[in-house]
Amino acid sequence: MIGGTDSRSRQPETDRGNPDVLSRRSANSRIGRGREESKKQRKHRVDLKPALPLGEGAVSGGGMFNDTSSTLDLLRTRRSGKPRDLIEPGPTDVQLRTILEAAIRVPDHGKLAPWRFIIIGREDRDRLSALLTSAYRAEKPEAGRLEIEAMAQFALFAPTLIVVLSTPVHTSKIPVWEQELSVGAACMNVLTATHAIGFVGSWQTGWPAYTDAVRDAFGNVGDRIAGFIFIGSSARSLEERPRPDYDSIVKNWG
Ligand SMILES: Cc1cc2nc3c(=O)[nH]c(=O)nc-3n(C[C@H](O)[C@H](O)[C@H](O)COP(=O)(O)O)c2cc1C
Repeated sequence: MIGGTDSRSRQPETDRGNPDVLSRRSANSRIGRGREESKKQRKHRVDLKPALPLGEGAVSGGGMFNDTSSTLDLLRTRRSGKPRDLIEPGPTDVQLRTILEAAIRVPDHGKLAPWRFIIIGREDRDRLSALLTSAYRAEKPEAGRLEIEAMAQFALFAPTLIVVLSTPVHTSKIPVWEQELSVGAACMNVLTATHAIGFVGSWQTGWPAYTDAVRDAFGNVGDRIAGFIFIGSSARSLEERPRPDYDSIVKNWG
């Protein structure tokens, strides 16, 4: 796990000796090792972490969010923050690079890399703020003071702000839809890696993501803003939000 501790050393007591877990663990450890590994295979090998038995590390009841004990714990307890609540410290340059390296490792049909990440540095936030307010005024001349202020504030939230741009290759035989799915996965990896390192993220779109004048500041015609991802430390405790009922979402076919 990025920035996390090795979950093998933190394996819950109940894992030890559990035949189900042990058989999965040994299956994991067998992957890619049926025969002698070449030097190249060894270089590219990713050691898989043992899986948690279902039911352990669950989010319900515990009230702990973004639990980095294991990859599965993190996925099951993930929680975003609100941009306005995100304060210093944010990620260092090295941590941010780690987050973005995770983002560009998403499934990508055709190896098209249909995403770009633009880091809006602290020194450029005022410029973004001015861009958003002038574009908003141009599109909505009747806008009131509060609306304009909200636009100005949007650009200033959180220590770190990344614009994720969908940059599909329109001439490719890979459908644009699939390229856009890859962008969504990239955004999700930004969030997950952010939480894995111990920060809190928030994926937002809103009016700025759907405005050509804003898009043009970052990309070209045909590109779309997939999200503004804010990263920092939450000034408030995170609270659970209602989640869909499993049985209303998941069905066996037939
Ligand atoms: C593509 C996309 C755009 C979003 N845009 C907004 C937004 O503009 N404003 C907002 O309040 N939440 C937005 N959200 C939802 C938040 O990112 C977040 O998922 C939500 O607050 C719930 O938190 P959670 O991530 O812990 O489930 C968006 C989510 C997605 C996937």
